[in-house]
Amino acid sequence: MRQPILTAAAFQALQSHHADARHWQLRDLFNEHPARFADFSVEAADLFLDYSKNRLNDTTMQLLFSLARERGIEPRRDAMFAGEKINTTERRAVLHTALRAPRDTMLRVDERNVIADVHAVLDRIQPFTERVRSGLWLGYGGKAITDIVNIGIGGSYLGPKMACQALRAYAHPRLTMHFVSNVDGNDLDALLQKVNPETTLFIIASKTFTTLETMMNAHSARTWFLTHGAATDLPKHFVAVSTNTDAVRAFGIDPENMFPFWDWVGGRYSIWSAIGLPVALAIGFDNFRQFLAGGHAMDQHFRSAPLEQNMPVILALIGVWYRNFFDSTSLSIAPYHQDLSDFPGYLQQLDMESNGKRVAVDGTALDAASCPVVWGDVGTNGQHAYFQLLHQGTDVIPVDFIAALKPGHGLAGHHAALLANCFAQSEAFMRGKTSGEARAEMQAQHMTAADIDALAPHKTFPGNRPSNTILMDALTPATLGALVALYEHKTFVQGVLWGVNSFDQWGVELGKVLAKNIQSELTGVPQPDRHDSSTNGLIARARAAM
Ligand code: F6P
Repeated sequence: MRQPILTAAAFQALQSHHADARHWQLRDLFNEHPARFADFSVEAADLFLDYSKNRLNDTTMQLLFSLARERGIEPRRDAMFAGEKINTTERRAVLHTALRAPRDTMLRVDERNVIADVHAVLDRIQPFTERVRSGLWLGYGGKAITDIVNIGIGGSYLGPKMACQALRAYAHPRLTMHFVSNVDGNDLDALLQKVNPETTLFIIASKTFTTLETMMNAHSARTWFLTHGAATDLPKHFVAVSTNTDAVRAFGIDPENMFPFWDWVGGRYSIWSAIGLPVALAIGFDNFRQFLAGGHAMDQHFRSAPLEQNMPVILALIGVWYRNFFDSTSLSIAPYHQDLSDFPGYLQQLDMESNGKRVAVDGTALDAASCPVVWGDVGTNGQHAYFQLLHQGTDVIPVDFIAALKPGHGLAGHHAALLANCFAQSEAFMRGKTSGEARAEMQAQHMTAADIDALAPHKTFPGNRPSNTILMDALTPATLGALVALYEHKTFVQGVLWGVNSFDQWGVELGKVLAKNIQSELTGVPQPDRHDSSTNGLIARARAAM
C-alpha cells in the first residue's frame, strides 16, 4: 500500500513552513539575500535555470528535497532507467531514455538489448532521410520529394511538429513539412489542395495504427493519391511509423517502408523514436543525432546530480510547492522564442496526459492535488493577451520563461528587445508596484489628488508572483533535446511525488468509445435509449442537417 503524500513527514513540515512562507514578499527575499541569484540557479546540459524569483528560501528547498527523498525519487528514477515495468497498469517498461542512449551502451529488457534495437532502427532512418534529402528518393513522376505530410495525432504529432518548428533554421530548403492530425476533414482537405501528389511523401505515424483520426486521414490521403498515381506507386509515397506491423501491412504499406518502435515508448515520449522521422528529414540525420545527444546529456545529469543540484528535480519540486501548498491551479509556459511557439502545446500533452490523474498507482484516490493546467504562448505575444491577468488577476499563476541568449536571425535590435521584455516581465511579476510607487509616479506627472486616489488601486501591482527562467545559449538541436528531456523528467518526478502512474492515459478512452457509438448513430439508426436528452437533441439536430 502506498503512503499518501499528506502523511509524509516532509509534507507536513512543509505545511507548517508554508504558514510562514505564504507571507513572504519576493522583494524582501531579494533585499535580504544579495546572492539569491547565484544560490538559486543551476546549470545542466547547456541549460541554465534561474529559480530565484520563487517564494522560497533555503529551508523551503531543504524540506522539498526531504520530500523528494521520502517519496523515493532516486530509486524510482533508477527503476525507470533500468527498464523495470513502472507503467504498472499497462505492464510496460518506460524507456524513452533508451532512445537517446549511445550505441555502446546496453540495456536488457525481456531478454533483448533494447539499445541495439534502437540503433538498428536509427541505422535505417539515416539512409532513408539521406535519400529523401539528397533527391535520390523519387516520386512516381521521377521527381524529388518536395512535401512531407505527417499524419498522426497526440504524441505522433505534437512532438515532431514542435521540433520541426523549433529547428526550422536547420530545415532542408527543398522540403516543406506538413502535419495533419484532426479528424475534421478541413485539416487534410486544405493540405491536399496545396500539394502535388507526384512530389509528396506521406508518413503515417501511429504507435497503435488504430487511432481513429489517423486511420481516417491516412485512408483519405491514400484515396486522394490513387486518383493521381497508381497502386504500384504507393511505396514511393507512403511510409509508416508504428509498433503494429500487422496493421501497417493491412493498410497496404510494405513493412520494408515501416520504421518501428516499441511498446515501452509512451506516445507523448516518442519524439526520440522513429516518430521523430519528420524531424530527421527536415534537419538531417546528424542534427537529429545532436537532438538525441542533448536529451541524453539531460538524462546523465538527472541520473547523477545530487537532488540539490538536479534541474528536473528542482523544477518539479517548485511546481509541487505551488500546486500543493499555494493551491495554484495552472502553470503558464512563456517561451521568448518564436520558433518555440508549439512548445506550450507540446508540454500540455506531456504534463497533463501524464499527471492528470486522480488515483495513485495502487488505485486509491489521491489525497492531494495533482497536475495543474499547463498553457501558454510565445512572448511577447502573450504580454498583449493574457499577461494582464498574470500581473493583476486574482489567481497567482507561476510562469516558466524560456529564452535563448543568441538570436536565430540577423535583424538588428529585435533580440535585445525580446530579451528585455522577457527579463522585464519576470522582474515585474516579482516586484510589482506598490500603491506608494504608483502614487509617486502620478504625482510626478502632476495629476490631481482626486485622480491619483481614483487610479492608484488600478495602477498598483501586487507583485510576489513567481517565475522560473530557463536560458540557453542558442536554440539548437542539442539544447532543444535537453529542454524536452528536462520537462520529461520534471513530469516524471512530479508523478512520483504525487504517487501516480505518469505513463498510462485511460482518461482518453471513454470519449473515444462514446464517439464510436454516436458516429454510427449519426449515419445509421439512432439509439435514444443510450443517451440523455441533451446528447439525443444534439444528434437529432446533426442528423437533420446531414
Ligand atoms: O490521446 C491518446 C493517445 O493514446 C496518446 O497518448 C497518443 O499519443 C495518441 O493517442 C496517438 O496514439 P497513436 O500514436 O497510437 O496513434
